[in-house]
Amino acid sequence: MSLIELKSVHKSYKGMVLFEDTDLSIEKGKIYGLVGPNGSGKSVLFKMICGFVFPDQGSVTVRGEQLGKKNRFPQNFGIIIDRPGYLANKTGFENLKYLSMIKEKIADKQIKEAMIAVGLQPTAEQKVKNYSLGMKQKLALAQAIMEDQDILILDEPFNALDIDSTERMRNLIFTLKEQGKTIIFTSHNQEDIDILSDHVFRVRNFNLEHLK
Ligand SMILES: Nc1ncnc2c1ncn2[C@@H]1O[C@H](COP(=O)(O)OP(=O)(O)OP(=O)(O)O)[C@@H](O)[C@H]1O
Ligand SMILES: [Mg+2]
Repeated sequence: MSLIELKSVHKSYKGMVLFEDTDLSIEKGKIYGLVGPNGSGKSVLFKMICGFVFPDQGSVTVRGEQLGKKNRFPQNFGIIIDRPGYLANKTGFENLKYLSMIKEKIADKQIKEAMIAVGLQPTAEQKVKNYSLGMKQKLALAQAIMEDQDILILDEPFNALDIDSTERMRNLIFTLKEQGKTIIFTSHNQEDIDILSDHVFRVRNFNLEHLK
């Protein structure tokens, strides 16, 4: 059984078609790269996989359970879609601590480890409002991985990262794969896609084309 399965998905916004009769199967423990032009529907696809929006027709199934109004958010997802809003007057650690209190799954130690893994200093007193773009991106990544979720949905995780940070993030993603996690990501950088992906899909003609 596939971990995530889309069957005959149709999705439009106000008459603008994004997906038409689209199928997708995601297997556990692999890295999937998703490419396609601006506005082609990559982020919308991610939102459907996470249960934030629903298809107009067709189904999205996660671990055998179809997502719907009564079964909205699948368990054990670590997600970056659109840069999340953070509390500007708090430090990075304080922000993650606050978010970790929703699930109460992890202690400070794991938050600090996630920050270090992405290259942020847990003890830094800098407020998030003074973070650079790349630092905010790292904070979003730390948030996505901190709870050790088995499915990571990463929409443009490499955005705004410098060369060393990109390298670090690629290694981190490989390490997460070795731990058995399933990763689906988008990038407009072909090198990220080529290096990381076991499978590559491109949004084209309102459908997904399996490139690799
Ligand atoms: N809630 C919404 N209401 C109306 N239109 C929407 C909504 N969400 C997305 N869209 C539209 O759907 C299209 C696809 O958007 P999406 O964000 O998925 O593109 P994308 O492939 O992620 O692009 P990019 O590469 O720029 O991130 C866009 O035209 C967008 O305006
Ligand atoms: Mg997008």
